[in-house]
Amino acid sequence: MFRDSIKKMAAYTPGEQPRPGEKLIKLNTNENPYPPSPKVRRAVTKATGGALRLYPAPRGDEFVAAASRYYRVPRDMILAGNGSDELLGMLFRAVLGRGDKVAYPVPTYSLYDTLAEIQEARVARVAFGPDFILPIPELVRARARLTIVCNPNSPSGSFTPIAKLSALAGALAGRLLIIDEAYVDFAADNALRILRRHHNLVILRTLSKSFSLAGMRLGLCFAHPEVIEALLKVKDSYNLSRIALAAGAAAVDDAAWMRRNVARVKATRAEAIERLRKLGFSVAPSESNFVLARMPGRDLGPIARGLRRAGILVRHFATPMLRDGLRISIGTPAEMSALYRALAPLLAGERAPVLASRSPNRGNRRRNRR
Ligand SMILES: Cc1ncc(COP(=O)(O)O)c(C=O)c1O
Repeated sequence: MFRDSIKKMAAYTPGEQPRPGEKLIKLNTNENPYPPSPKVRRAVTKATGGALRLYPAPRGDEFVAAASRYYRVPRDMILAGNGSDELLGMLFRAVLGRGDKVAYPVPTYSLYDTLAEIQEARVARVAFGPDFILPIPELVRARARLTIVCNPNSPSGSFTPIAKLSALAGALAGRLLIIDEAYVDFAADNALRILRRHHNLVILRTLSKSFSLAGMRLGLCFAHPEVIEALLKVKDSYNLSRIALAAGAAAVDDAAWMRRNVARVKATRAEAIERLRKLGFSVAPSESNFVLARMPGRDLGPIARGLRRAGILVRHFATPMLRDGLRISIGTPAEMSALYRALAPLLAGERAPVLASRSPNRGNRRRNRR
Protein backbone atom coordinates (compact mmCIF):
# COMPACT_ATOMS: atom_id res chain seq x y z
CA MET A 1 0.00 0.00 0.00
CA PHE A 2 2.88 2.40 0.70
CA ARG A 3 6.04 3.59 -1.00
CA ASP A 4 9.11 1.52 -0.13
CA SER A 5 10.80 4.46 1.56
CA ILE A 6 7.80 4.98 3.85
CA LYS A 7 7.63 1.28 4.72
CA LYS A 8 11.31 1.27 5.67
CA MET A 9 11.53 4.50 7.62
CA ALA A 10 11.01 4.96 11.36
CA ALA A 11 8.43 7.56 12.36
CA TYR A 12 9.59 10.74 14.10
CA THR A 13 9.51 10.25 17.88
CA PRO A 14 8.03 13.28 19.61
CA GLY A 15 8.74 13.87 23.29
CA GLU A 16 6.26 12.30 25.72
CA GLN A 17 3.07 14.26 26.31
CA PRO A 18 1.18 13.65 29.59
CA ARG A 19 -2.11 11.79 29.36
CA PRO A 20 -5.22 13.80 30.38
CA GLY A 21 -5.18 14.35 34.14
CA GLU A 22 -1.59 13.12 34.55
CA LYS A 23 0.45 15.52 36.66
CA LEU A 24 4.04 15.66 35.49
CA ILE A 25 6.73 18.29 35.54
CA LYS A 26 7.31 18.70 31.85
CA LEU A 27 10.87 19.65 30.97
CA ASN A 28 11.17 17.55 27.80
CA THR A 29 9.81 19.47 24.80
CA ASN A 30 10.98 23.02 25.42
CA GLU A 31 7.59 24.56 25.99
CA ASN A 32 7.29 27.82 27.89
CA PRO A 33 6.36 27.32 31.56
CA TYR A 34 4.32 30.54 31.57
CA PRO A 35 0.94 31.08 29.89
CA PRO A 36 0.39 33.13 26.72
CA SER A 37 -0.78 36.74 26.82
CA PRO A 38 -4.34 37.23 28.16
CA LYS A 39 -4.98 39.12 24.91
CA VAL A 40 -4.65 35.77 23.11
CA ARG A 41 -7.50 34.31 25.16
CA ARG A 42 -9.71 37.30 24.32
CA ALA A 43 -8.89 37.07 20.61
CA VAL A 44 -9.57 33.32 20.59
CA THR A 45 -12.94 33.77 22.31
CA LYS A 46 -13.90 36.38 19.75
CA ALA A 47 -12.79 34.14 16.87
CA THR A 48 -15.04 31.28 18.00
CA GLY A 49 -18.20 33.12 16.91
CA GLY A 50 -20.29 32.74 13.76
CA ALA A 51 -17.33 33.43 11.50
CA LEU A 52 -16.17 29.84 12.07
CA ARG A 53 -18.58 28.71 9.33
CA LEU A 54 -16.29 30.50 6.87
CA TYR A 55 -12.87 29.33 5.69
CA PRO A 56 -9.91 31.30 7.05
CA ALA A 57 -7.75 33.61 4.93
CA PRO A 58 -5.53 31.30 2.81
CA ARG A 59 -2.42 33.38 3.52
CA GLY A 60 -3.28 34.12 7.14
CA ASP A 61 -3.64 37.85 6.50
CA GLU A 62 -4.21 39.19 10.04
CA PHE A 63 -1.38 37.12 11.54
CA VAL A 64 0.98 37.99 8.69
CA ALA A 65 0.08 41.70 9.03
CA ALA A 66 0.87 41.61 12.77
CA ALA A 67 4.16 39.81 12.07
CA SER A 68 5.02 42.34 9.37
CA ARG A 69 4.53 45.22 11.84
CA TYR A 70 6.46 43.60 14.67
CA TYR A 71 9.38 42.17 12.70
CA ARG A 72 9.49 45.03 10.13
CA VAL A 73 9.48 42.64 7.20
CA PRO A 74 7.16 43.23 4.18
CA ARG A 75 4.15 40.92 3.96
CA ASP A 76 5.22 39.38 0.67
CA MET A 77 8.30 38.04 2.49
CA ILE A 78 6.26 36.23 5.17
CA LEU A 79 4.43 32.91 5.11
CA ALA A 80 2.43 31.63 8.10
CA GLY A 81 2.55 27.94 8.97
CA ASN A 82 0.82 25.43 11.22
CA GLY A 83 3.87 25.43 13.46
CA SER A 84 7.34 25.78 11.95
CA ASP A 85 7.26 22.00 11.43
CA GLU A 86 4.71 22.54 8.66
CA LEU A 87 6.95 25.19 7.10
CA LEU A 88 9.89 22.78 7.21
CA GLY A 89 7.68 20.19 5.51
CA MET A 90 6.75 22.65 2.76
CA LEU A 91 10.39 23.55 2.19
CA PHE A 92 11.48 19.91 1.94
CA ARG A 93 8.62 19.14 -0.48
CA ALA A 94 9.30 22.20 -2.63
CA VAL A 95 13.08 21.78 -2.82
CA LEU A 96 13.98 18.10 -2.56
CA GLY A 97 13.13 15.24 -4.90
CA ARG A 98 14.47 11.69 -4.78
CA GLY A 99 18.28 11.69 -4.54
CA ASP A 100 18.62 15.45 -4.01
CA LYS A 101 20.98 16.47 -1.26
CA VAL A 102 20.19 18.22 2.03
CA ALA A 103 22.98 19.13 4.47
CA TYR A 104 22.98 20.05 8.14
CA PRO A 105 25.34 19.97 11.09
CA VAL A 106 24.65 17.23 13.66
CA PRO A 107 23.50 16.57 16.28
CA THR A 108 20.46 18.75 15.64
CA TYR A 109 16.65 18.68 15.40
CA SER A 110 15.89 15.12 14.32
CA LEU A 111 12.78 16.02 12.33
CA TYR A 112 15.13 17.04 9.47
CA ASP A 113 16.09 13.33 9.11
CA THR A 114 12.44 12.29 8.97
CA LEU A 115 11.52 14.89 6.36
CA ALA A 116 14.54 13.92 4.24
CA GLU A 117 13.53 10.25 4.36
CA ILE A 118 10.00 11.07 3.23
CA GLN A 119 11.45 12.91 0.21
CA GLU A 120 14.01 10.12 -0.39
CA ALA A 121 16.65 12.82 -0.26
CA ARG A 122 20.34 12.17 0.39
CA VAL A 123 21.56 13.65 3.65
CA ALA A 124 24.99 15.13 4.27
CA ARG A 125 25.26 15.06 8.07
CA VAL A 126 28.26 17.16 8.98
CA ALA A 127 29.49 16.87 12.56
CA PHE A 128 29.69 20.09 14.56
CA GLY A 129 33.22 20.99 15.62
CA PRO A 130 34.33 21.03 19.28
CA ASP A 131 32.04 23.22 21.42
CA PHE A 132 29.47 23.08 18.62
CA ILE A 133 31.41 25.30 16.24
CA LEU A 134 29.58 25.44 12.89
CA PRO A 135 31.52 23.44 10.25
CA ILE A 136 31.18 26.07 7.51
CA PRO A 137 33.71 24.75 4.93
CA GLU A 138 32.24 21.23 5.11
CA LEU A 139 28.69 22.57 4.71
CA VAL A 140 29.75 24.60 1.67
CA ARG A 141 31.62 21.64 0.17
CA ALA A 142 28.50 19.45 0.52
CA ARG A 143 26.94 21.56 -2.31
CA ALA A 144 23.46 20.56 -1.14
CA ARG A 145 20.27 21.97 -2.70
CA LEU A 146 19.14 22.71 0.84
CA THR A 147 21.30 23.49 3.89
CA ILE A 148 19.81 23.88 7.36
CA VAL A 149 21.30 25.44 10.45
CA CYS A 150 19.30 25.36 13.65
CA ASN A 151 20.36 28.44 15.60
CA PRO A 152 20.37 28.31 18.60
CA ASN A 153 20.92 24.62 17.98
CA SER A 154 18.93 21.87 19.64
CA PRO A 155 19.87 19.92 21.72
CA SER A 156 23.08 21.84 22.45
CA GLY A 157 21.67 25.34 23.02
CA SER A 158 24.79 26.67 21.26
CA PHE A 159 24.68 29.79 19.10
CA THR A 160 26.51 30.57 15.86
CA PRO A 161 27.23 34.30 15.39
CA ILE A 162 25.12 35.91 12.66
CA ALA A 163 28.20 37.12 10.72
CA LYS A 164 29.16 33.47 10.21
CA LEU A 165 25.68 32.59 8.98
CA SER A 166 25.82 35.54 6.59
CA ALA A 167 29.14 34.25 5.24
CA LEU A 168 27.62 30.78 4.83
CA ALA A 169 24.59 32.21 2.97
CA GLY A 170 26.97 34.09 0.66
CA ALA A 171 29.03 30.99 -0.03
CA LEU A 172 25.86 29.01 -0.79
CA ALA A 173 24.43 31.60 -3.24
CA GLY A 174 21.90 29.92 -5.55
CA ARG A 175 21.16 27.19 -2.99
CA LEU A 176 18.74 27.64 -0.13
CA LEU A 177 19.92 28.07 3.44
CA ILE A 178 17.32 27.65 6.17
CA ILE A 179 18.09 29.13 9.57
CA ASP A 180 15.73 27.50 12.03
CA GLU A 181 15.35 30.14 14.73
CA ALA A 182 12.81 28.30 16.89
CA TYR A 183 14.65 29.36 20.07
CA VAL A 184 16.13 32.67 19.00
CA ASP A 185 14.07 34.88 21.33
CA PHE A 186 16.10 33.35 24.18
CA ALA A 187 19.38 34.37 22.45
CA ALA A 188 21.14 37.71 22.24
CA ASP A 189 20.94 38.10 18.44
CA ASN A 190 19.01 36.85 15.40
CA ALA A 191 19.35 36.69 11.61
CA LEU A 192 16.41 38.85 10.49
CA ARG A 193 18.65 41.83 9.74
CA ILE A 194 20.60 39.86 7.09
CA LEU A 195 17.44 38.56 5.38
CA ARG A 196 17.38 41.15 2.61
CA ARG A 197 21.08 40.67 1.86
CA HIS A 198 20.62 37.06 0.73
CA HIS A 199 17.98 35.87 -1.76
CA ASN A 200 18.71 32.27 -0.76
CA LEU A 201 18.04 32.77 2.96
CA VAL A 202 14.97 31.37 4.73
CA ILE A 203 14.41 32.17 8.40
CA LEU A 204 11.94 30.09 10.40
CA ARG A 205 10.33 31.16 13.65
CA THR A 206 7.77 29.52 15.89
CA LEU A 207 5.31 30.87 18.44
CA SER A 208 5.55 27.54 20.33
CA LYS A 209 8.43 28.54 22.58
CA SER A 210 8.87 32.21 23.48
CA PHE A 211 5.19 33.09 22.85
CA SER A 212 3.90 30.10 24.90
CA LEU A 213 1.67 28.85 22.07
CA ALA A 214 2.87 25.30 21.33
CA GLY A 215 -0.72 24.07 21.50
CA MET A 216 -1.95 26.56 18.92
CA ARG A 217 0.51 25.54 16.15
CA LEU A 218 1.87 28.78 14.72
CA GLY A 219 5.07 29.34 12.76
CA LEU A 220 6.50 32.00 10.48
CA CYS A 221 8.74 31.79 7.45
CA PHE A 222 10.67 34.87 6.30
CA ALA A 223 12.23 34.75 2.83
CA HIS A 224 12.55 36.51 -0.52
CA PRO A 225 9.12 36.88 -2.26
CA GLU A 226 10.14 34.37 -4.94
CA VAL A 227 10.78 31.72 -2.26
CA ILE A 228 7.43 32.49 -0.63
CA GLU A 229 5.66 32.19 -4.02
CA ALA A 230 7.17 28.73 -4.56
CA LEU A 231 6.16 27.59 -1.08
CA LEU A 232 2.57 28.74 -1.65
CA LYS A 233 2.34 26.10 -4.40
CA VAL A 234 2.89 23.27 -1.92
CA LYS A 235 0.93 24.80 0.97
CA ASP A 236 -2.47 23.41 2.02
CA SER A 237 -5.08 25.98 0.97
CA TYR A 238 -6.25 26.79 4.49
CA ASN A 239 -3.37 25.68 6.66
CA LEU A 240 -4.22 27.80 9.72
CA SER A 241 -7.60 27.98 11.40
CA ARG A 242 -9.36 31.26 12.12
CA ILE A 243 -8.74 30.63 15.82
CA ALA A 244 -5.01 30.12 15.34
CA LEU A 245 -4.71 33.22 13.13
CA ALA A 246 -6.49 35.37 15.73
CA ALA A 247 -4.30 33.95 18.50
CA GLY A 248 -1.12 34.54 16.49
CA ALA A 249 -2.00 38.14 15.69
CA ALA A 250 -2.87 38.91 19.33
CA ALA A 251 0.32 37.24 20.61
CA VAL A 252 2.62 39.14 18.26
CA ASP A 253 0.77 42.41 18.98
CA ASP A 254 1.54 41.84 22.68
CA ALA A 255 5.21 40.91 22.27
CA ALA A 256 6.00 42.75 25.53
CA TRP A 257 4.31 39.85 27.37
CA MET A 258 6.54 37.39 25.52
CA ARG A 259 9.69 39.38 26.34
CA ARG A 260 8.79 39.43 30.04
CA ASN A 261 8.44 35.64 30.09
CA VAL A 262 11.67 35.23 28.12
CA ALA A 263 13.48 37.33 30.75
CA ARG A 264 12.12 35.07 33.52
CA VAL A 265 13.19 31.92 31.65
CA LYS A 266 16.68 33.37 31.06
CA ALA A 267 17.09 34.16 34.77
CA THR A 268 16.04 30.59 35.68
CA ARG A 269 18.39 29.27 32.98
CA ALA A 270 21.41 31.01 34.54
CA GLU A 271 20.56 29.50 37.90
CA ALA A 272 19.95 26.05 36.36
CA ILE A 273 23.40 25.99 34.78
CA GLU A 274 24.99 26.74 38.15
CA ARG A 275 22.89 24.20 40.04
CA LEU A 276 23.42 21.43 37.49
CA ARG A 277 27.18 22.04 37.49
CA LYS A 278 27.16 21.73 41.29
CA LEU A 279 25.42 18.36 40.87
CA GLY A 280 28.37 17.20 38.72
CA PHE A 281 27.07 17.84 35.19
CA SER A 282 29.07 19.56 32.53
CA VAL A 283 26.77 22.25 31.11
CA ALA A 284 27.76 24.51 28.24
CA PRO A 285 26.29 28.03 28.03
CA SER A 286 22.84 28.02 26.42
CA GLU A 287 21.13 30.65 24.26
CA SER A 288 17.82 28.80 24.31
CA ASN A 289 15.13 27.74 26.80
CA PHE A 290 16.85 24.45 27.59
CA VAL A 291 20.27 23.22 28.61
CA LEU A 292 22.22 20.11 27.66
CA ALA A 293 23.56 18.63 30.89
CA ARG A 294 26.24 16.02 30.25
CA MET A 295 28.32 13.51 32.15
CA PRO A 296 30.91 12.51 29.56
CA GLY A 297 31.12 8.72 29.16
CA ARG A 298 28.04 7.96 31.33
CA ASP A 299 24.78 6.80 29.76
CA LEU A 300 22.15 9.04 31.36
CA GLY A 301 19.21 6.93 30.16
CA PRO A 302 18.74 5.43 33.66
CA ILE A 303 18.71 8.93 35.18
CA ALA A 304 16.04 10.06 32.69
CA ARG A 305 13.97 6.96 33.54
CA GLY A 306 14.44 7.59 37.27
CA LEU A 307 13.22 11.16 36.81
CA ARG A 308 10.21 9.84 34.87
CA ARG A 309 9.33 7.58 37.80
CA ALA A 310 9.58 10.62 40.05
CA GLY A 311 7.14 12.47 37.78
CA ILE A 312 9.64 14.63 35.88
CA LEU A 313 10.05 14.46 32.11
CA VAL A 314 13.37 15.43 30.51
CA ARG A 315 14.69 14.43 27.08
CA HIS A 316 17.30 11.73 26.66
CA PHE A 317 18.48 10.81 23.16
CA ALA A 318 19.81 7.24 23.05
CA THR A 319 22.33 7.94 20.27
CA PRO A 320 26.11 7.48 20.52
CA MET A 321 26.65 11.25 20.37
CA LEU A 322 24.05 12.19 22.96
CA ARG A 323 23.47 9.32 25.37
CA ASP A 324 25.70 11.03 27.97
CA GLY A 325 23.39 14.04 28.10
CA LEU A 326 19.96 15.17 29.25
CA ARG A 327 18.22 18.01 27.45
CA ILE A 328 16.35 19.85 30.15
CA SER A 329 13.79 22.53 29.30
CA ILE A 330 13.79 25.50 31.64
CA GLY A 331 10.64 25.42 33.76
CA THR A 332 9.44 27.63 36.59
CA PRO A 333 11.79 28.05 39.57
CA ALA A 334 9.54 25.63 41.53
CA GLU A 335 9.73 23.00 38.79
CA MET A 336 13.51 23.35 38.58
CA SER A 337 13.84 22.98 42.36
CA ALA A 338 11.88 19.73 42.15
CA LEU A 339 14.28 18.58 39.43
CA TYR A 340 17.40 19.29 41.54
CA ARG A 341 15.82 17.52 44.52
CA ALA A 342 15.12 14.44 42.39
CA LEU A 343 18.50 14.43 40.64
CA ALA A 344 20.69 14.36 43.74
CA PRO A 345 19.60 10.88 44.99
CA LEU A 346 19.37 9.46 41.45
CA LEU A 347 22.96 10.43 40.67
CA ALA A 348 24.01 8.70 43.89
CA GLY A 349 22.23 5.52 42.75
CA GLU A 350 19.21 5.94 45.01
CA ARG A 351 15.52 6.37 44.16
CA ALA A 352 14.13 9.87 43.83
CA PRO A 353 11.10 10.89 45.88
CA VAL A 354 7.87 10.76 43.86
CA LEU A 355 6.50 14.16 43.05
CA ALA A 356 3.90 15.65 45.42
CA SER A 357 0.45 15.49 43.83
CA ARG A 358 0.00 19.26 43.82
CA SER A 359 1.10 20.75 40.51
CA PRO A 360 3.94 23.24 41.04
CA ASN A 361 2.44 25.21 38.14
CA ARG A 362 -0.45 26.46 40.24
CA GLY A 363 1.49 29.05 42.14
CA ASN A 364 2.90 30.40 38.94
CA ARG A 365 -0.45 30.70 37.28
CA ARG A 366 -1.50 32.83 40.20
CA ARG A 367 1.63 34.95 39.84
CA ASN A 368 1.02 35.40 36.15
CA ARG A 369 -2.45 36.77 36.63
CA ARG A 370 -1.11 39.63 38.66
C1 LIG B 1 14.64 23.33 16.25
C2 LIG B 1 13.17 23.24 16.15
N1 LIG B 1 12.58 23.68 15.04
C3 LIG B 1 11.24 23.62 14.90
C4 LIG B 1 10.46 23.11 15.90
C5 LIG B 1 8.98 22.99 15.65
O1 LIG B 1 8.26 23.96 16.25
P1 LIG B 1 6.71 24.12 15.98
O2 LIG B 1 6.04 23.85 17.26
O3 LIG B 1 6.55 25.54 15.52
O4 LIG B 1 6.30 23.16 14.90
C6 LIG B 1 11.02 22.65 17.08
C7 LIG B 1 10.18 22.09 18.14
O5 LIG B 1 10.57 21.62 19.16
C8 LIG B 1 12.42 22.71 17.20
O6 LIG B 1 13.04 22.25 18.31
